[in-house]
Amino acid sequence: MNILLLGGGGREHALAWKLAQSPSLETLYAAPGNPGIAQHATLVDLDAADHRAVLDFCIRHSIGLVVIGPEAPLVDGLADNLRTMGVSVFGPNKKPAQLEGSKGFTKDLCRRANIPTAAYVRVTSKDGAVAALDDFALPVVIKADGLAAGKGVIIAETRDDALEALDTMFSGAFGAAGEEVVLEEFMTGEEASFFALTDGSAILPFGSAQDHKRVGDGDTGPNTGGMGAYSPARVLTPDLEAQVIERIVKPTVDTLAAEGIPYSGILYAGLMLTSEGPKLIEYNARFGDPECQVLMTRFDGDLVELLLAVAQGRLAEQGPVTLAERTALTVVMAANGYPGTPEKGGAITGLAAAEAQGAKVFHAGTADKDGTLVAHGGRVLNVTATGDSVQAAQAAAYAAVDAIDFPTGFCRRDIGWREIARETA
Ligand SMILES: Nc1ncnc2c1ncn2[C@@H]1O[C@H](COP(=O)(O)OP(=O)(O)OP(=O)(O)O)[C@@H](O)[C@H]1O
Ligand SMILES: [Mg+2]
Repeated sequence: MNILLLGGGGREHALAWKLAQSPSLETLYAAPGNPGIAQHATLVDLDAADHRAVLDFCIRHSIGLVVIGPEAPLVDGLADNLRTMGVSVFGPNKKPAQLEGSKGFTKDLCRRANIPTAAYVRVTSKDGAVAALDDFALPVVIKADGLAAGKGVIIAETRDDALEALDTMFSGAFGAAGEEVVLEEFMTGEEASFFALTDGSAILPFGSAQDHKRVGDGDTGPNTGGMGAYSPARVLTPDLEAQVIERIVKPTVDTLAAEGIPYSGILYAGLMLTSEGPKLIEYNARFGDPECQVLMTRFDGDLVELLLAVAQGRLAEQGPVTLAERTALTVVMAANGYPGTPEKGGAITGLAAAEAQGAKVFHAGTADKDGTLVAHGGRVLNVTATGDSVQAAQAAAYAAVDAIDFPTGFCRRDIGWREIARETA
């Protein structure tokens, strides 16, 4: 079968790498792809925002499955347009993708389905927000409703900070994404992510992970798209995982199906493990980046078959997903300046030496410049290794990082610290 993979980051390199291992794959096409993805796929010049062009490509190249990596095309309704024309797609339609595309949509769903989450109100004006603020203790969480590339959430410690955050949002700092705002109760606990495949009725767990959002060691500095991750997140015990499926994931899938907008794809639940049990922070409608890199490293099966079963509504026929017991850990190497303006064009060498140590290096923001690999984005490489413990996986990943020569880049040196603190306690 021919497959079209949309996206060009480390997540899509990990997906391409696994898709390419399937015996049922004939040709993998990717757009826009990157030099890592190009090791497994034919890169094509195709704009995911141009739905007609994507559809034409699928027809001309007999595409049996389109795998949509990032959230923007999902929220934009690309999957609907392909499905309408009979193309199998991995990824939800526009309406169910509102689970990621609208914080308010998800909160309202939680209310209807009685899913544990933080108390909230939706507001559409600064005055309305200020009036509602009095109902919340401090700190209070303020979120732009729409997609804001991980930058639309502010945790305000004081009332003045909250007023300033509301000013920023309602003055258009997040464009249309900030025209509506959600105020939320602040929850305390440890965060973990849980993944499940669903075709709208069957649900197949796909493991857990923890990421590192802040740019600096010890979780300091500004937020990023993620500086590293590991899987599994052992803090999400089998008992807690069962609760998450029963109280959060299943009611979500069932409610959307009952309301006529079934969700098909990967459901990424961002969780807070509170003293009252797991509560939903947010949903994403795609694999996480870099969480996908560690999940794919552990995944031991035929990804083409599995994603196709989701796309065709045959997930109930599939056996459980097998994930290796070993921990996978990925370290993001970023370009200097990230998460501000990253330095472009810095040369990178040593990838073969890193992989010779048993690590896998996924490309995120790289480019090929006259035969030299250079940085071409904020997050540049995802150096991924496995081990019998988080500590062992971390040691293997940093040994590989140290084999890479990327003078204009940097990485955190403490990925996995929470879990390692527990392992060594
Ligand atoms: N109600 C809450 N209580 C405490 N912390 C919260 C709450 N909501 C969000 N946060 C914190 O803010 C972070 C970002 O929130 P959220 O996941 O909703 O935003 P996002 O922009 O969609 O993130 P992502 O880029 O991970 O998809 C969370 O990971 C968590 O650390
Ligand atoms: Mg999100």
